[in-house]
Amino acid sequence: MDNKKIAIIGGGNMGLAMARGILQTKWANPERMMFAEPLNDRLEHIKGIAHGIKTSHSNLDAAAWADVILLSVKPQIMSHVLDEIKPVMKDSKQVVTVAAGVTTSFIEKKLGGKTPVIRAMPNIAAVVREAATAICPGKYATEEHLSIARHIFESVGIVVEVEESLMDAVTGLSGTGPMYVFQILEGLSDAGVKVGLSRDISNTLAVQTLIGSSKLIKETKEHPAKLKDLVTSPGGTAISALHSLEKNGLKALLIDAVEVAAKRSGELGTQKKD
Ligand SMILES: NC(=O)c1ccc[n+]([C@@H]2O[C@H](COP(=O)([O-])OP(=O)(O)OC[C@H]3O[C@@H](n4cnc5c(N)ncnc54)[C@H](OP(=O)(O)O)[C@@H]3O)[C@@H](O)[C@H]2O)c1
Repeated sequence: MDNKKIAIIGGGNMGLAMARGILQTKWANPERMMFAEPLNDRLEHIKGIAHGIKTSHSNLDAAAWADVILLSVKPQIMSHVLDEIKPVMKDSKQVVTVAAGVTTSFIEKKLGGKTPVIRAMPNIAAVVREAATAICPGKYATEEHLSIARHIFESVGIVVEVEESLMDAVTGLSGTGPMYVFQILEGLSDAGVKVGLSRDISNTLAVQTLIGSSKLIKETKEHPAKLKDLVTSPGGTAISALHSLEKNGLKALLIDAVEVAAKRSGELGTQKKD
C-alpha cells in the first residue's frame, strides 16, 4: 500500500471522511492522493484538508493517475462514472466502491477486462473514525486487493469481510444504522425533556448512555440480553420500562427497518442505468 496512489471520485460526505481517515494512517501522503469532483467549492475545501493533495474535475484524469480508485458517488450515477473512466482502466488498477447496491459484477462488466473490484459498505461514523465497514471481493480481486481495501477502511474504523450476497443486509444494518441511532437518541432526548430535564442535559445524558452501554457490550463481549437481565431488578424501573418497550414493539420496529433498508439497497442496485 505504501507506494500506491489513490484517487477518490466523489468528494461528498463519505469521500471526504475516507480522505481524512487515510491521511491519518502511517502510509498517508497527500501527494499520493487525488480527488475528482464536479464542484469547485468542494475541491477548494479538499485542498485545505492537506497540503499537496491533488484535485481535478476530471474523473478520467484521476483514474489514469491512480493505482487505487475509490468510487464514492451515488449509485444512480455510477454507470456514467464507469463509462468515463473505462478508457484508462487496466487490470493493474484496483477499484473500491462504497455505493449502496452496486455489485462488483456490474462494475466488472462495465469496465471490461479483469479489473479487481472490492465492494465496501462503511457508515457515516467514518467522519469520526468509528465506522463499521464490511468488504467483499469481486471475481478478479486477490488477497492483496482485499488487504489494501482493509487498510483503507481500517483508517476510519473496524472492518469485517462478508460474502457479496450479504452486502444488502450490511447496508440495512450498519450502513443505514447511524440513522436508527440518531432517531433513538432524539427520542431519548425528547423523553428527558418530557420528564423535566433541560434539552442540553437530556442530550448529554442520552448520548453518554448510548456510548457507555455500547462500550460495555463491546468490552465484555456479553450478549445484550444478558446485560439487559443484569439491569432489570425485580419490581424496578428497568423492568417497567422494558414492559412498555415490548408492548410497543421496539425490536419488531428495528427488525422491520433493517429489512426494508436491505431491500431498498437491492433496488438501488437494479435501478442504476446500464
Ligand atoms: N453517507 C453515508 O452514510 C454512506 C454510507 C455508506 C455508503 N455510502 C455511499 O457513499 C456514496 C457517496 O455517498 P455520500 O453520502 O458521500 O454522497 P454525497 O455527499 O452526495 O457525495 C457524492 C459526491 O459525488 C459528487 N458527484 C456527483 N456527480 C459526480 C460525477 N459525475 N463525478 C464525480 N463526482 C460526482 C457529488 O457532487 P455534487 O454534490 O456536486 O453532485 C458529491 O460531492 C454513495 O454511493 C453511498 O451509497 C454513503
